Amino acid sequence: STSWSTLCAAGDLPDGEARAFEIEGARLCLVNDAGSYFCVDDLCTHGKAYLSEGYCDTEDCVLECPLHGGLFDYRNGEACGEPAEKPVKSYAVRVADGHVQVQL
Ligand code: FES
Repeated sequence: STSWSTLCAAGDLPDGEARAFEIEGARLCLVNDAGSYFCVDDLCTHGKAYLSEGYCDTEDCVLECPLHGGLFDYRNGEACGEPAEKPVKSYAVRVADGHVQVQL
């Protein structure tokens, strides 16, 4: 079975921005890329920094870690720029009834 958890109303998060959400013990980073939403774990896999506090680059579909500049593809969590090596977990996202929901 699948369960979906609501993070926010669609439209709460402006286009091109990333924002942290804490839900069910997880800290997640939600990205709005031109109305498509993506969600990954917010904690960098390289050190203690939150990707939502770094730079969100929707040209290259990456989050840049604020601490050492590691890059993660927010579409799938893949590490794609040093010193990041391990992926962050990514989550399925949907918009239902005007709300952005994540599958935990
Ligand atoms: Fe994120 Fe080092 S803590 S790249």
